[in-house]
Amino acid sequence: MKVIATDQNGVRHELEAIEGWRIMEILRDYGLPIKAECGGCCCCATCHVYVDEKWIPKLYPPKPEEEDLLADAVDTKPNSRLSCQLLMSAELDGIEVTLAESARP
Ligand code: FES
Repeated sequence: MKVIATDQNGVRHELEAIEGWRIMEILRDYGLPIKAECGGCCCCATCHVYVDEKWIPKLYPPKPEEEDLLADAVDTKPNSRLSCQLLMSAELDGIEVTLAESARP
């Protein structure tokens, strides 16, 4: 199972993922530049990523807490999500995300 992540410098990384892990944890464990200040409690928005459009229909829609945080984030786009709220599953094998500038530590 894989996550394809492009960092803020445009470098593409292919990361091994584990089912049930948050995408934020995978990005962080591989040392990609992601702040994830709150550790996944959905209260900081510093795990902000852009999800490649083709994967959006496979994701659970954001909960109200996530929507509220994204509404206050500076560099959001329609495909913005908080990576701590995205759990890896077989359906998401190969998901492509790009780290937002606001996630940089
Ligand atoms: S790590 Fe803080 S909201 Fe995701």
